[in-house]
Amino acid sequence: MKKDLTKMLDLTKAEILNILNLADQMKKEQKIGKEHKHLAGKTLAMIFQKSSTRTRVSFEVGMYQLGGHALYLSANDLQMGRGEPIEDTARTLSRYVDGIMIRTFAHSDVEDLAKWSTVPVINGLTDFEHPCQVLADLMTIREYMGKLEGVKLAYIGDGNNMCNSLIAGCLTCGMSISVAVPEGYDPHPDALAFAKDYPGAFTLHRDPLEAVANANVVETDVWASMGHESEVKERQEAFTGYQINKRLMDAADPGAIVLHCLPAKREQEITADVFEAHANSIFDEAENRLHAQKAVMAMLMK
Ligand code: CP
Ligand code: NVA
Repeated sequence: MKKDLTKMLDLTKAEILNILNLADQMKKEQKIGKEHKHLAGKTLAMIFQKSSTRTRVSFEVGMYQLGGHALYLSANDLQMGRGEPIEDTARTLSRYVDGIMIRTFAHSDVEDLAKWSTVPVINGLTDFEHPCQVLADLMTIREYMGKLEGVKLAYIGDGNNMCNSLIAGCLTCGMSISVAVPEGYDPHPDALAFAKDYPGAFTLHRDPLEAVANANVVETDVWASMGHESEVKERQEAFTGYQINKRLMDAADPGAIVLHCLPAKREQEITADVFEAHANSIFDEAENRLHAQKAVMAMLMK
Protein backbone atom coordinates (compact mmCIF):
# COMPACT_ATOMS: atom_id res chain seq x y z
CA MET A 1 0.00 0.00 0.00
CA LYS A 2 1.09 3.60 -0.61
CA LYS A 3 2.17 5.75 2.34
CA ASP A 4 -1.11 7.70 2.25
CA LEU A 5 -4.82 7.17 1.64
CA THR A 6 -5.84 10.18 -0.40
CA LYS A 7 -8.29 8.61 -2.84
CA MET A 8 -10.14 5.40 -3.70
CA LEU A 9 -8.84 5.79 -7.25
CA ASP A 10 -5.37 4.76 -5.94
CA LEU A 11 -6.41 1.52 -4.22
CA THR A 12 -6.15 -1.93 -5.77
CA LYS A 13 -8.76 -4.61 -5.16
CA ALA A 14 -6.33 -6.55 -2.95
CA GLU A 15 -5.65 -3.45 -0.84
CA ILE A 16 -9.36 -2.74 -0.38
CA LEU A 17 -10.08 -6.35 0.58
CA ASN A 18 -7.18 -6.36 3.06
CA ILE A 19 -8.61 -3.25 4.72
CA LEU A 20 -12.13 -4.74 4.81
CA ASN A 21 -10.91 -8.06 6.20
CA LEU A 22 -9.00 -6.33 9.01
CA ALA A 23 -12.01 -4.08 9.65
CA ASP A 24 -14.29 -7.12 9.95
CA GLN A 25 -11.84 -8.72 12.38
CA MET A 26 -11.56 -5.55 14.47
CA LYS A 27 -15.33 -5.20 14.56
CA LYS A 28 -15.67 -8.76 15.89
CA GLU A 29 -12.90 -8.22 18.44
CA GLN A 30 -14.43 -4.98 19.66
CA LYS A 31 -17.86 -6.63 20.09
CA ILE A 32 -16.37 -9.28 22.40
CA GLY A 33 -14.25 -6.74 24.26
CA LYS A 34 -10.93 -8.00 22.90
CA GLU A 35 -8.39 -5.19 22.86
CA HIS A 36 -6.27 -4.46 19.80
CA LYS A 37 -3.82 -1.72 20.71
CA HIS A 38 -1.89 -1.77 17.45
CA LEU A 39 -1.05 1.94 17.74
CA ALA A 40 -0.07 2.18 21.41
CA GLY A 41 1.77 5.42 22.05
CA LYS A 42 1.00 6.86 18.60
CA THR A 43 -0.74 10.13 17.81
CA LEU A 44 -3.01 11.14 14.94
CA ALA A 45 -3.45 14.83 14.07
CA MET A 46 -6.92 15.57 12.69
CA ILE A 47 -7.22 18.79 10.69
CA PHE A 48 -10.78 19.96 10.01
CA GLN A 49 -11.63 22.79 7.62
CA LYS A 50 -15.27 21.63 7.43
CA SER A 51 -17.83 20.40 9.98
CA SER A 52 -18.01 16.74 10.97
CA THR A 53 -19.84 14.40 13.32
CA ARG A 54 -18.98 10.89 12.11
CA THR A 55 -15.46 11.46 10.81
CA ARG A 56 -14.29 13.33 13.87
CA VAL A 57 -15.79 10.97 16.43
CA SER A 58 -14.92 7.73 14.64
CA PHE A 59 -11.28 8.72 14.10
CA GLU A 60 -10.90 9.95 17.69
CA VAL A 61 -12.59 6.91 19.23
CA GLY A 62 -10.75 4.64 16.79
CA MET A 63 -7.35 5.97 17.84
CA TYR A 64 -8.28 5.51 21.50
CA GLN A 65 -9.33 1.91 20.88
CA LEU A 66 -6.04 1.29 19.05
CA GLY A 67 -4.15 2.49 22.13
CA GLY A 68 -3.21 5.85 20.64
CA HIS A 69 -4.29 9.44 20.88
CA ALA A 70 -5.98 11.85 18.48
CA LEU A 71 -5.64 15.64 18.32
CA TYR A 72 -8.54 17.70 16.99
CA LEU A 73 -7.13 20.66 15.08
CA SER A 74 -9.56 23.14 13.63
CA ALA A 75 -7.84 24.78 10.67
CA ASN A 76 -8.88 28.17 12.03
CA ASP A 77 -6.89 27.54 15.19
CA LEU A 78 -3.80 26.42 13.30
CA GLN A 79 -1.40 28.91 11.72
CA MET A 80 -2.58 27.32 8.46
CA GLY A 81 -5.74 29.40 8.90
CA ARG A 82 -3.50 32.50 8.86
CA GLY A 83 -1.72 31.41 5.71
CA GLU A 84 1.12 29.15 6.88
CA PRO A 85 1.91 27.02 3.81
CA ILE A 86 0.81 23.39 3.68
CA GLU A 87 4.39 22.23 3.12
CA ASP A 88 5.49 23.85 6.40
CA THR A 89 2.46 22.51 8.30
CA ALA A 90 3.22 19.04 6.90
CA ARG A 91 6.88 19.12 7.86
CA THR A 92 6.15 20.47 11.33
CA LEU A 93 3.35 18.00 12.17
CA SER A 94 5.50 15.14 10.85
CA ARG A 95 8.01 15.86 13.64
CA TYR A 96 5.33 15.37 16.32
CA VAL A 97 2.69 12.91 15.17
CA ASP A 98 2.50 9.49 13.50
CA GLY A 99 -0.32 10.23 11.07
CA ILE A 100 -2.43 13.12 9.79
CA MET A 101 -6.11 13.02 8.87
CA ILE A 102 -7.42 16.04 6.99
CA ARG A 103 -10.90 17.19 5.90
CA THR A 104 -10.69 20.10 3.52
CA PHE A 105 -11.98 21.65 0.29
CA ALA A 106 -9.40 21.35 -2.50
CA HIS A 107 -8.17 17.81 -3.07
CA SER A 108 -4.79 19.19 -4.15
CA ASP A 109 -4.26 20.35 -0.54
CA VAL A 110 -4.42 16.73 0.64
CA GLU A 111 -2.02 15.60 -2.08
CA ASP A 112 0.36 18.45 -1.13
CA LEU A 113 0.12 17.55 2.53
CA ALA A 114 0.91 13.92 1.65
CA LYS A 115 3.84 14.96 -0.52
CA TRP A 116 5.46 17.05 2.23
CA SER A 117 4.62 14.80 5.21
CA THR A 118 6.89 11.98 6.24
CA VAL A 119 3.96 10.37 8.09
CA PRO A 120 0.83 8.85 6.47
CA VAL A 121 -1.91 11.25 5.41
CA ILE A 122 -5.55 10.14 5.33
CA ASN A 123 -8.23 12.01 3.39
CA GLY A 124 -11.22 12.61 5.66
CA LEU A 125 -13.16 14.20 2.75
CA THR A 126 -12.33 16.68 0.03
CA ASP A 127 -14.48 18.14 -2.73
CA PHE A 128 -13.18 15.30 -4.94
CA GLU A 129 -13.24 12.15 -2.78
CA HIS A 130 -14.42 10.62 0.49
CA PRO A 131 -12.44 7.36 0.59
CA CYS A 132 -12.98 6.50 4.28
CA GLN A 133 -16.74 6.68 3.81
CA VAL A 134 -16.68 4.43 0.77
CA LEU A 135 -14.53 1.84 2.57
CA ALA A 136 -17.25 1.77 5.26
CA ASP A 137 -19.89 1.51 2.54
CA LEU A 138 -18.14 -1.46 0.91
CA MET A 139 -17.80 -3.11 4.32
CA THR A 140 -21.54 -2.64 4.90
CA ILE A 141 -22.47 -3.95 1.46
CA ARG A 142 -20.38 -7.07 2.05
CA GLU A 143 -22.06 -7.59 5.43
CA TYR A 144 -25.55 -7.40 3.91
CA MET A 145 -24.92 -9.10 0.55
CA GLY A 146 -22.23 -11.58 1.65
CA LYS A 147 -20.02 -10.46 -1.27
CA LEU A 148 -19.06 -7.50 -3.41
CA GLU A 149 -18.42 -9.22 -6.74
CA GLY A 150 -21.46 -8.88 -9.00
CA VAL A 151 -23.46 -6.66 -6.61
CA LYS A 152 -25.12 -3.68 -8.31
CA LEU A 153 -25.18 -0.23 -6.66
CA ALA A 154 -27.29 2.65 -7.94
CA TYR A 155 -26.22 6.14 -6.90
CA ILE A 156 -28.85 8.85 -7.33
CA GLY A 157 -28.18 12.57 -6.93
CA ASP A 158 -25.13 14.80 -7.13
CA GLY A 159 -21.99 13.64 -8.96
CA ASN A 160 -19.97 14.72 -5.91
CA ASN A 161 -17.13 13.40 -3.74
CA MET A 162 -19.23 10.41 -2.63
CA CYS A 163 -20.18 9.58 -6.20
CA ASN A 164 -16.54 9.76 -7.39
CA SER A 165 -15.30 7.53 -4.58
CA LEU A 166 -18.15 5.04 -5.07
CA ILE A 167 -17.38 4.74 -8.78
CA ALA A 168 -13.74 3.91 -8.00
CA GLY A 169 -14.49 1.62 -5.04
CA CYS A 170 -17.34 -0.35 -6.58
CA LEU A 171 -15.66 -0.94 -9.93
CA THR A 172 -12.34 -1.92 -8.34
CA CYS A 173 -14.15 -4.51 -6.21
CA GLY A 174 -15.98 -6.15 -9.12
CA MET A 175 -19.33 -4.50 -8.47
CA SER A 176 -21.37 -2.65 -11.06
CA ILE A 177 -22.53 0.91 -10.50
CA SER A 178 -25.21 2.95 -12.22
CA VAL A 179 -25.23 6.66 -11.55
CA ALA A 180 -28.21 8.94 -12.19
CA VAL A 181 -27.40 12.65 -12.03
CA PRO A 182 -29.01 15.69 -13.63
CA GLU A 183 -27.18 17.37 -16.49
CA GLY A 184 -24.51 19.73 -15.20
CA TYR A 185 -23.84 17.60 -12.09
CA ASP A 186 -21.84 14.75 -13.61
CA PRO A 187 -19.13 12.95 -11.63
CA HIS A 188 -15.56 14.28 -11.88
CA PRO A 189 -13.86 13.65 -15.26
CA ASP A 190 -11.18 11.54 -13.52
CA ALA A 191 -13.85 9.21 -12.11
CA LEU A 192 -15.50 8.96 -15.53
CA ALA A 193 -12.14 8.26 -17.18
CA PHE A 194 -11.50 5.52 -14.59
CA ALA A 195 -14.92 4.00 -15.33
CA LYS A 196 -14.07 3.73 -19.03
CA ASP A 197 -11.84 0.78 -18.16
CA TYR A 198 -14.90 -1.12 -16.85
CA PRO A 199 -17.21 -1.31 -19.84
CA GLY A 200 -20.57 -2.79 -18.93
CA ALA A 201 -20.04 -2.34 -15.20
CA PHE A 202 -20.60 1.44 -15.24
CA THR A 203 -23.55 3.35 -16.66
CA LEU A 204 -24.47 7.03 -16.43
CA HIS A 205 -28.16 7.97 -16.59
CA ARG A 206 -30.37 11.02 -16.44
CA ASP A 207 -33.37 8.88 -15.41
CA PRO A 208 -33.11 7.52 -11.83
CA LEU A 209 -35.65 4.78 -12.60
CA GLU A 210 -33.31 3.37 -15.24
CA ALA A 211 -30.36 3.46 -12.83
CA VAL A 212 -32.10 1.57 -10.01
CA ALA A 213 -33.31 -1.34 -12.14
CA ASN A 214 -32.08 -4.58 -10.44
CA ALA A 215 -30.00 -2.57 -7.98
CA ASN A 216 -29.04 -4.38 -4.75
CA VAL A 217 -27.90 -1.18 -3.09
CA VAL A 218 -29.45 2.26 -3.56
CA GLU A 219 -27.38 5.16 -2.32
CA THR A 220 -27.67 8.92 -2.26
CA ASP A 221 -26.09 11.96 -0.64
CA VAL A 222 -27.09 15.57 0.02
CA TRP A 223 -27.82 17.75 -3.00
CA ALA A 224 -25.70 20.60 -1.66
CA SER A 225 -22.39 19.47 -0.19
CA MET A 226 -20.35 21.51 2.26
CA GLY A 227 -19.09 24.55 0.41
CA HIS A 228 -22.16 24.70 -1.86
CA GLU A 229 -24.51 26.27 0.68
CA SER A 230 -25.12 29.30 -1.55
CA GLU A 231 -26.47 27.01 -4.31
CA VAL A 232 -29.11 25.30 -2.17
CA LYS A 233 -32.07 26.82 -4.01
CA GLU A 234 -30.88 26.17 -7.56
CA ARG A 235 -29.80 22.68 -6.59
CA GLN A 236 -33.21 21.87 -5.11
CA GLU A 237 -34.69 22.66 -8.51
CA ALA A 238 -32.02 20.80 -10.48
CA PHE A 239 -32.39 17.66 -8.33
CA THR A 240 -36.18 17.47 -8.34
CA GLY A 241 -36.98 13.91 -9.41
CA TYR A 242 -33.68 12.58 -8.03
CA GLN A 243 -35.16 11.63 -4.66
CA ILE A 244 -34.98 8.16 -3.13
CA ASN A 245 -38.63 7.47 -2.36
CA LYS A 246 -40.97 4.49 -2.33
CA ARG A 247 -41.63 4.69 -6.08
CA LEU A 248 -37.91 4.54 -6.81
CA MET A 249 -37.32 1.71 -4.32
CA ASP A 250 -40.14 -0.28 -5.97
CA ALA A 251 -38.08 -0.22 -9.16
CA ALA A 252 -34.96 -1.64 -7.45
CA ASP A 253 -34.32 -5.27 -6.51
CA PRO A 254 -36.90 -6.27 -3.82
CA GLY A 255 -34.11 -7.05 -1.35
CA ALA A 256 -32.26 -3.79 -1.99
CA ILE A 257 -30.67 -1.96 0.93
CA VAL A 258 -30.32 1.82 1.17
CA LEU A 259 -27.10 3.60 2.11
CA HIS A 260 -26.55 7.27 2.91
CA CYS A 261 -23.24 8.63 4.21
CA LEU A 262 -25.13 11.16 6.39
CA PRO A 263 -26.01 13.83 7.29
CA ALA A 264 -29.31 13.38 5.43
CA LYS A 265 -31.89 15.97 4.44
CA ARG A 266 -35.26 14.28 4.72
CA GLU A 267 -37.78 14.97 1.95
CA GLN A 268 -34.96 16.23 -0.24
CA GLU A 269 -32.61 13.47 -1.47
CA ILE A 270 -34.49 10.82 0.56
CA THR A 271 -38.00 10.62 2.02
CA ALA A 272 -38.40 10.13 5.77
CA ASP A 273 -40.28 6.83 5.28
CA VAL A 274 -37.57 5.25 3.11
CA PHE A 275 -34.87 6.56 5.46
CA GLU A 276 -36.55 5.02 8.50
CA ALA A 277 -37.35 1.76 6.71
CA HIS A 278 -33.63 1.41 5.96
CA ALA A 279 -32.24 2.93 9.17
CA ASN A 280 -30.49 -0.35 10.06
CA SER A 281 -28.24 -0.39 7.00
CA ILE A 282 -27.70 3.39 7.15
CA PHE A 283 -26.54 3.33 10.77
CA ASP A 284 -24.52 0.13 10.30
CA GLU A 285 -22.79 2.12 7.55
CA ALA A 286 -22.14 4.95 10.02
CA GLU A 287 -20.80 2.47 12.60
CA ASN A 288 -18.52 0.88 10.03
CA ARG A 289 -16.65 4.16 9.62
CA LEU A 290 -15.05 3.32 12.98
CA HIS A 291 -13.98 -0.19 12.02
CA ALA A 292 -12.84 0.62 8.48
CA GLN A 293 -10.77 3.60 9.64
CA LYS A 294 -9.20 1.63 12.47
CA ALA A 295 -8.07 -0.88 9.86
CA VAL A 296 -6.68 1.89 7.64
CA MET A 297 -4.83 3.51 10.55
CA ALA A 298 -3.44 0.21 11.77
CA MET A 299 -2.18 -0.62 8.28
CA LEU A 300 -0.68 2.80 7.52
CA MET A 301 0.60 3.88 10.94
CA LYS A 302 1.84 0.69 12.58
N1 CP B 1 -20.37 10.90 6.47
C1 CP B 1 -19.57 11.79 7.07
O1 CP B 1 -18.42 11.98 6.70
O2 CP B 1 -20.12 12.41 8.15
P1 CP B 1 -19.54 13.67 8.92
O3 CP B 1 -19.59 14.84 7.96
O4 CP B 1 -20.43 13.84 10.09
O5 CP B 1 -18.12 13.40 9.30
N1 NVA C 1 -21.03 15.20 -0.10
C1 NVA C 1 -21.13 15.61 1.28
C2 NVA C 1 -20.70 14.48 2.16
C3 NVA C 1 -20.77 14.78 3.64
C4 NVA C 1 -20.25 13.66 4.47
C5 NVA C 1 -20.27 16.84 1.50
O1 NVA C 1 -19.18 16.92 0.93
O2 NVA C 1 -20.71 17.73 2.23
